[in-house]
Amino acid sequence: MNYNKCWLNYNLIEDYSDKEILSNITVCGKDAKESLIVDNAVNELKDAFRKILNINASCSYLKNEKEYDEANLGVILKLRDNQELHSEGYLIKQIDKGLHIEARTDKGLLYGSFDLIRRISQGETLDGLNLMENPKNNIRIFNHWDNMDGSIERGYSGNSFFFENDQVLINERTRDYARLAASIGINATVINNVNVLEAATDLITDRYLNKLAEMSDIFEGYGIKMYLSANFAAPIEIGGLPVSDPLDKDVILWWEKCIKNVYDKIPGFGGFLIKADSEGRPGPFTYGRTHADGANMLAKALKPYEGILIWRCFVYNCLQDWRDYKTDRARSAYDNFIDLDGKFDDNVILQIKNGPMDFQVREPVSPLFGGLKKTNMILEVQAAQEYTGQQKDLCYLIPMWKEILDFETHAKKDGSTIADIVSGRTYDQDKCGIATVTNTGNDYNWTGHDLAAANLYGFGRLAWDTGLSAIQIAREWVTQTFSRDEKVVSTVCEILMKSWPTYEKYTSPLGIGWMVNPNHHYGPNIDGYEYDRWGTYHRADRNGLGVDRTVKSGTGYAGQYNEPLASMYEDKETCPEELLLFFHYIKYDYKLKSGKTLIQHIYDTHFEGVEEVEDMIEKWKGLKELLAEDVYERVSMRFSMQLSNAKEWRDRVNTYFYRKSGVEDEHGRKIY
Ligand code: GCU
Repeated sequence: MNYNKCWLNYNLIEDYSDKEILSNITVCGKDAKESLIVDNAVNELKDAFRKILNINASCSYLKNEKEYDEANLGVILKLRDNQELHSEGYLIKQIDKGLHIEARTDKGLLYGSFDLIRRISQGETLDGLNLMENPKNNIRIFNHWDNMDGSIERGYSGNSFFFENDQVLINERTRDYARLAASIGINATVINNVNVLEAATDLITDRYLNKLAEMSDIFEGYGIKMYLSANFAAPIEIGGLPVSDPLDKDVILWWEKCIKNVYDKIPGFGGFLIKADSEGRPGPFTYGRTHADGANMLAKALKPYEGILIWRCFVYNCLQDWRDYKTDRARSAYDNFIDLDGKFDDNVILQIKNGPMDFQVREPVSPLFGGLKKTNMILEVQAAQEYTGQQKDLCYLIPMWKEILDFETHAKKDGSTIADIVSGRTYDQDKCGIATVTNTGNDYNWTGHDLAAANLYGFGRLAWDTGLSAIQIAREWVTQTFSRDEKVVSTVCEILMKSWPTYEKYTSPLGIGWMVNPNHHYGPNIDGYEYDRWGTYHRADRNGLGVDRTVKSGTGYAGQYNEPLASMYEDKETCPEELLLFFHYIKYDYKLKSGKTLIQHIYDTHFEGVEEVEDMIEKWKGLKELLAEDVYERVSMRFSMQLSNAKEWRDRVNTYFYRKSGVEDEHGRKIY
C-alpha cells in the first residue's frame, strides 16, 4: 500500500476511559445482518477499536425482535423506524452499559458508526452520549475530473486512482477511497471528468460496464452511488446517429436503450452529470433546443430507474472580444437559465458553481441561486484549488464555503440562504445538495499537500451539516489526522484558518480575480487573460481598475440579484469592499473604509500576504518535534514553494500597478 489513511489514521490512545463498553458489538435484526453496509460498519468499528484502543471487539447478531429490544450491553446497532430520523440519520445514546446506534436504514448505521469512531479518535468520552444527527443535504457528491488515460483535469495530487491507460482500475485504494468518503457522509460520486473526451464516452457501454459494476458494488457497500459524466454527443460518437438532437426520436430511443443497459449492469447507478454547450462541449444549442429540452430528454430516460440527471449551469461565451465592454461572462449562468425555471423535470438538478465566474479566491455568490424558484439545485464548489494555489499553496476553503452557504439571497422573506436553498428547505425539494470538484489523486497523501486533505474532509462534514463551523471542522481534522497534542491542534488550526485571507492578500485584490498564468492557472500573470477571449478582464489603466457591472453604467450584472442586494452592489459606497473591483471601476486614489487609497491597499496587502506566509512557516517549524518526520518535511517543502509563489505575486502585482499608476508606496518599500 503506497498511500496513507488521512483522517482514518487511527492513532493509538493509551489512556482512554470508556473502553469497556466497546468490547462487544451487537447487530440487531435480520435486515441488518444481511446488509453489506452494516457488515462494513461493523468492520470499521472493529478496525478502529483495535487500532485506537487495542480492543478486539467481539461481534454477535440477535435475530428476534424481543431479544434485541432487551439488548443493552456494548455497542448495539439497531434498525428502527424512528420517524424523527431522516433516512440517512442516526442516533447514538448511552443507556447503562449499552451504547445504542439506531437508524432507519443501514446507511444510517454506517454514518452513526463513523460518528462514533470520529469521537473516539478525538479522545472524546462516551459517558452520557445522547445525540441525533440528520444530514442537512440529501445529495453530498464528489465530482472527479479524472480522465481515462489516468490524468486528472486540474488535478494536483498525482494521477487518477479510477483510470489508467483507458482501463478502469480497481484495487485496495478503491475501497479505502469509499471508506474515506463514507466516513464524512459522502453518498454519491461522479468518477469521470465533466469534459467527456475519447474513451470516456464509452463508459456507458459494454466496453466498461462490467468493470464499473464491480466498482459500484464496492461503493454501494459504503452507501455511495456511482454517477458518470456523459457526453451529450454520445448518440453520434458511439451510436452512429447523424445528430444528438434531444427531440429526435432516434436519439431518444438510443438513450433509452443505453440507459436500460447501464441499469441492467449497475442497478444502483445514480445517474449522469452533463456539461453541455460549455467550453466547446456539445449540447442542445446546436439544434436550436433549450437546455431544458436537453436535460429533460435524458431525465425521462433515467426516470424508470429513479436515476438523476445533474445538468451544469457553467454555460458562457468563451469566445469573447476583450474590446466588448457589454458582454459579461458573469451574467451568463443567470441569463441562460433563469427563463427555464420550472421547465425541468423533477429528476433534473441544476448544478451551479458558487460564483458567477470560476472558483476565484473571491467572487460574489451566483445570483442564479436567488433567482430560480421552481428548480432543484446543487451548489458546486471546488476543493481542487485550481485558482487558489493548486495544493502547493495552502488555502483552507471551508471558511469561504461557509460564507457562501450563509449568504442570504433574499429570494424569500425567511429561510433563503444558499444553505437553505440547496438543502431543499426553501422550496420544499428533496433532490438538492452540494458537490465539490475533488482534490484527490494517487499521491501518497491523496491530496498533494497534506494540509489540503482538510478541504476534502471539510467538504464532507459541511455538506452533512452546514451548521458546523470552519474551526470546529479544522480541529476535528487535525486531531484525527495528526495528533491530539494541543500545541499541534491549535497551531495547525491557526495556520489553516489564516490561509484563505493570506492567499487573497498576495494574489488578486478586492474580488477582481484572474491575473493568473493562462492555461495552467498557477502563479501571477496580470495581463494573462486581459486581451483574451475568455471574458476575464481587470480593465486596469493609468487611473484605476475594476469591471463596471452596475445597471446604471456597466454590464448590468448587479441587477441579477434580489433587492436589497442589487442596490447594495450597484453603489460603490455600499458594495462590500472585498468585492469592490468585481462590481466597479475604481480610481487608484479612491479612499477605502480603512482610510487608505486603493493603490496603497494593493501595495500593503501584497506585502502583508508574504509576511503572513513567513509567519505560517515559523509556526510550522515549531511543530517539528511533534509531528511525524515525513509529514513535517512534505509540508515544509510545500511552504517553501508557497513563499516563492507569494513573493512572485507580490512583486508582479505591485510593480504592475506602480507602473500603471505612477503612485509611490507610502512606506517606500521595494517595488520593481
Ligand atoms: C474551468 C476549468 C476547466 C473546467 C471548467 C469546468 O474552466 O479551467 O478545466 O473544465 O472549469 O468547470 O467545466
